[in-house]
Amino acid sequence: MSKEYIVAPSLLATDPLNFGRDVKMLERAGAKWFHVDCMDGTFVPNFSFGYSTVSALRKFTDRVLDVHLMIDRPIRYIDEYSKAGADYLTIHVEADTEENTLKALEKIKANGVKCGLSIKPKTPVSAIEKYLPILDLVLVMTVEPGFGGQSFMKDMMPKLNELSKKLSEVNPACHIQVDGGIDVNTFGFCKENGANVFVAGSACLKAEDKKAFIQTIEQ
Ligand code: DX5
Ligand code: ZN
Repeated sequence: MSKEYIVAPSLLATDPLNFGRDVKMLERAGAKWFHVDCMDGTFVPNFSFGYSTVSALRKFTDRVLDVHLMIDRPIRYIDEYSKAGADYLTIHVEADTEENTLKALEKIKANGVKCGLSIKPKTPVSAIEKYLPILDLVLVMTVEPGFGGQSFMKDMMPKLNELSKKLSEVNPACHIQVDGGIDVNTFGFCKENGANVFVAGSACLKAEDKKAFIQTIEQ
Protein backbone atom coordinates (compact mmCIF):
# COMPACT_ATOMS: atom_id res chain seq x y z
CA MET A 1 0.00 0.00 0.00
CA SER A 2 1.51 3.33 -0.96
CA LYS A 3 0.93 6.25 1.34
CA GLU A 4 0.74 9.90 0.42
CA TYR A 5 3.90 11.92 1.06
CA ILE A 6 3.27 14.97 3.21
CA VAL A 7 5.47 17.85 4.35
CA ALA A 8 4.47 19.25 7.73
CA PRO A 9 6.25 22.60 8.15
CA SER A 10 7.23 23.11 11.79
CA LEU A 11 5.84 26.41 13.04
CA LEU A 12 8.67 26.55 15.57
CA ALA A 13 10.78 28.03 12.78
CA THR A 14 8.38 30.90 12.04
CA ASP A 15 9.04 34.51 13.03
CA PRO A 16 7.15 34.97 16.33
CA LEU A 17 6.35 38.59 15.52
CA ASN A 18 4.95 37.59 12.12
CA PHE A 19 3.37 34.26 13.03
CA GLY A 20 0.12 34.70 11.11
CA ARG A 21 1.92 36.05 8.06
CA ASP A 22 4.21 33.00 8.00
CA VAL A 23 1.30 30.56 8.41
CA LYS A 24 -0.50 32.15 5.43
CA MET A 25 2.73 32.14 3.42
CA LEU A 26 3.12 28.39 4.09
CA GLU A 27 -0.51 27.81 3.11
CA ARG A 28 0.12 29.56 -0.21
CA ALA A 29 3.21 27.37 -0.68
CA GLY A 30 0.92 24.33 -0.49
CA ALA A 31 1.39 23.12 3.10
CA LYS A 32 -1.33 20.56 3.91
CA TRP A 33 -0.28 20.01 7.51
CA PHE A 34 1.20 22.27 10.17
CA HIS A 35 3.45 20.74 12.83
CA VAL A 36 2.98 22.49 16.17
CA ASP A 37 5.72 21.79 18.74
CA CYS A 38 4.59 22.11 22.36
CA MET A 39 7.34 22.03 25.00
CA ASP A 40 7.14 22.30 28.78
CA GLY A 41 10.72 23.07 29.84
CA THR A 42 10.81 19.73 31.72
CA PHE A 43 10.50 16.91 29.20
CA VAL A 44 12.77 19.00 26.98
CA PRO A 45 14.96 21.93 28.02
CA ASN A 46 12.97 24.51 26.08
CA PHE A 47 9.55 26.16 25.92
CA SER A 48 7.35 26.71 22.90
CA PHE A 49 3.68 26.71 21.98
CA GLY A 50 0.76 25.69 24.22
CA TYR A 51 -2.90 24.94 23.62
CA SER A 52 -3.86 28.60 23.28
CA THR A 53 -1.74 28.73 20.12
CA VAL A 54 -3.40 25.57 18.79
CA SER A 55 -6.79 27.13 19.46
CA ALA A 56 -5.83 30.37 17.68
CA LEU A 57 -4.48 28.37 14.73
CA ARG A 58 -7.71 26.37 14.53
CA LYS A 59 -9.64 29.59 13.86
CA PHE A 60 -7.04 30.81 11.40
CA THR A 61 -6.41 27.82 9.10
CA ASP A 62 -8.26 24.80 7.79
CA ARG A 63 -5.06 22.77 7.36
CA VAL A 64 -4.29 19.68 9.44
CA LEU A 65 -2.93 20.62 12.87
CA ASP A 66 -0.31 18.05 13.82
CA VAL A 67 0.52 18.71 17.46
CA HIS A 68 3.77 17.27 18.90
CA LEU A 69 3.60 17.22 22.69
CA MET A 70 7.06 17.30 24.22
CA ILE A 71 5.67 17.46 27.74
CA ASP A 72 5.87 15.30 30.85
CA ARG A 73 2.79 13.27 31.76
CA PRO A 74 0.81 14.47 28.73
CA ILE A 75 -2.36 12.75 29.99
CA ARG A 76 -2.93 15.87 32.11
CA TYR A 77 -3.48 18.05 29.04
CA ILE A 78 -5.13 15.80 26.44
CA ASP A 79 -8.56 17.37 26.91
CA GLU A 80 -7.24 20.93 26.56
CA TYR A 81 -5.36 20.13 23.35
CA SER A 82 -8.34 18.19 21.97
CA LYS A 83 -10.70 21.08 22.68
CA ALA A 84 -8.22 23.48 21.12
CA GLY A 85 -8.76 21.71 17.79
CA ALA A 86 -5.74 19.48 17.19
CA ASP A 87 -6.23 16.94 14.39
CA TYR A 88 -3.32 14.79 15.51
CA LEU A 89 -1.94 14.64 19.04
CA THR A 90 1.44 12.94 19.37
CA ILE A 91 2.83 12.13 22.79
CA HIS A 92 6.22 10.70 23.79
CA VAL A 93 6.54 7.15 25.11
CA GLU A 94 9.32 8.39 27.45
CA ALA A 95 7.01 10.96 29.08
CA ASP A 96 5.05 8.68 31.44
CA THR A 97 4.47 5.09 32.64
CA GLU A 98 3.23 2.41 30.23
CA GLU A 99 -0.15 2.43 31.91
CA ASN A 100 -0.59 6.18 31.56
CA THR A 101 0.72 6.19 27.99
CA LEU A 102 -2.00 3.73 27.01
CA LYS A 103 -4.61 5.75 28.91
CA ALA A 104 -3.48 8.96 27.22
CA LEU A 105 -3.68 7.38 23.75
CA GLU A 106 -7.16 6.05 24.51
CA LYS A 107 -8.22 9.47 25.75
CA ILE A 108 -7.00 11.09 22.54
CA LYS A 109 -9.01 8.61 20.47
CA ALA A 110 -12.10 8.98 22.66
CA ASN A 111 -11.92 12.74 22.03
CA GLY A 112 -12.12 12.08 18.28
CA VAL A 113 -8.52 13.11 17.66
CA LYS A 114 -5.94 11.03 15.77
CA CYS A 115 -3.28 9.66 18.08
CA GLY A 116 0.47 9.54 17.60
CA LEU A 117 3.36 8.19 19.61
CA SER A 118 6.95 9.36 19.36
CA ILE A 119 10.35 7.92 20.24
CA LYS A 120 13.50 9.89 21.01
CA PRO A 121 16.77 8.82 19.34
CA LYS A 122 17.87 6.52 22.16
CA THR A 123 14.50 4.75 22.48
CA PRO A 124 14.15 1.45 20.60
CA VAL A 125 11.15 0.39 18.52
CA SER A 126 10.44 -2.33 21.08
CA ALA A 127 9.32 0.41 23.53
CA ILE A 128 6.28 1.21 21.36
CA GLU A 129 5.60 -2.19 19.82
CA LYS A 130 2.55 -2.99 21.89
CA TYR A 131 0.83 0.30 20.99
CA LEU A 132 1.37 0.01 17.22
CA PRO A 133 -2.05 -1.49 16.31
CA ILE A 134 -3.98 1.46 17.79
CA LEU A 135 -1.86 4.34 16.45
CA ASP A 136 -2.62 6.73 13.60
CA LEU A 137 0.95 8.05 13.50
CA VAL A 138 4.39 7.09 14.77
CA LEU A 139 7.03 9.80 15.02
CA VAL A 140 10.67 8.80 14.86
CA MET A 141 12.81 11.70 16.10
CA THR A 142 15.87 12.26 13.95
CA VAL A 143 17.34 14.76 16.49
CA GLU A 144 17.10 15.01 20.26
CA PRO A 145 13.79 16.86 20.78
CA GLY A 146 13.82 20.42 22.07
CA PHE A 147 15.30 22.67 19.42
CA GLY A 148 15.04 23.42 15.73
CA GLY A 149 18.05 23.68 13.46
CA GLN A 150 19.94 20.58 14.63
CA SER A 151 21.76 18.09 12.38
CA PHE A 152 19.90 15.07 11.01
CA MET A 153 20.86 11.77 12.65
CA LYS A 154 21.28 9.35 9.78
CA ASP A 155 21.92 6.54 12.25
CA MET A 156 18.18 6.52 12.98
CA MET A 157 17.53 4.92 9.57
CA PRO A 158 17.83 1.25 10.66
CA LYS A 159 15.32 1.97 13.43
CA LEU A 160 12.96 3.65 10.95
CA ASN A 161 13.25 0.64 8.68
CA GLU A 162 12.54 -1.77 11.52
CA LEU A 163 9.46 0.24 12.47
CA SER A 164 8.19 0.39 8.86
CA LYS A 165 8.42 -3.38 8.57
CA LYS A 166 6.56 -3.94 11.82
CA LEU A 167 3.83 -1.45 10.90
CA SER A 168 3.34 -2.99 7.47
CA GLU A 169 2.31 -6.18 9.28
CA VAL A 170 0.17 -4.82 12.10
CA ASN A 171 -1.08 -1.39 10.98
CA PRO A 172 -0.18 -0.52 7.38
CA ALA A 173 -2.31 2.66 7.26
CA CYS A 174 -0.39 4.29 10.13
CA HIS A 175 1.58 7.40 9.17
CA ILE A 176 5.33 7.23 9.72
CA GLN A 177 6.70 10.65 10.54
CA VAL A 178 10.26 11.92 10.87
CA ASP A 179 11.23 15.13 12.65
CA GLY A 180 14.57 16.88 12.96
CA GLY A 181 17.07 18.05 10.38
CA ILE A 182 14.85 17.19 7.42
CA ASP A 183 15.88 19.02 4.25
CA VAL A 184 16.28 18.33 0.53
CA ASN A 185 19.42 16.29 1.23
CA THR A 186 18.09 14.12 4.07
CA PHE A 187 14.42 13.40 3.28
CA GLY A 188 15.39 10.74 0.71
CA PHE A 189 17.00 8.50 3.33
CA CYS A 190 13.78 8.65 5.36
CA LYS A 191 11.60 7.94 2.31
CA GLU A 192 13.72 4.91 1.43
CA ASN A 193 13.18 3.61 4.95
CA GLY A 194 9.42 4.03 4.98
CA ALA A 195 8.64 7.56 6.23
CA ASN A 196 5.72 9.36 4.60
CA VAL A 197 5.30 12.51 6.76
CA PHE A 198 8.25 14.88 6.85
CA VAL A 199 8.44 17.60 9.48
CA ALA A 200 10.63 20.45 8.30
CA GLY A 201 11.32 23.56 10.33
CA SER A 202 14.40 25.58 9.49
CA ALA A 203 14.95 24.10 6.03
CA CYS A 204 11.37 24.87 4.95
CA LEU A 205 11.22 28.36 6.42
CA LYS A 206 14.64 29.26 5.06
CA ALA A 207 13.91 27.92 1.57
CA GLU A 208 13.69 30.76 -0.92
CA ASP A 209 11.05 28.86 -2.90
CA LYS A 210 8.88 27.15 -0.27
CA LYS A 211 6.50 25.73 -2.85
CA ALA A 212 9.37 24.00 -4.64
CA PHE A 213 10.73 22.72 -1.30
CA ILE A 214 7.38 21.11 -0.45
CA GLN A 215 6.87 19.71 -3.96
CA THR A 216 10.37 18.21 -4.08
CA ILE A 217 9.71 16.17 -0.95
CA GLU A 218 6.08 15.29 -1.70
CA GLN A 219 6.60 13.96 -5.23
C1 DX5 B 1 12.44 19.55 17.70
C2 DX5 B 1 11.06 19.69 17.12
C3 DX5 B 1 11.02 19.84 15.66
C4 DX5 B 1 11.75 21.06 15.12
C5 DX5 B 1 12.39 20.62 13.84
O1 DX5 B 1 12.34 19.14 18.99
O2 DX5 B 1 10.28 18.54 17.43
O3 DX5 B 1 9.72 19.76 15.13
O4 DX5 B 1 10.92 22.16 14.87
O5 DX5 B 1 13.18 21.63 13.37
P1 DX5 B 1 14.24 21.42 12.19
O6 DX5 B 1 13.48 20.98 10.97
O7 DX5 B 1 14.85 22.78 12.06
O8 DX5 B 1 15.22 20.38 12.64
ZN1 ZN C 1 8.34 18.32 16.40
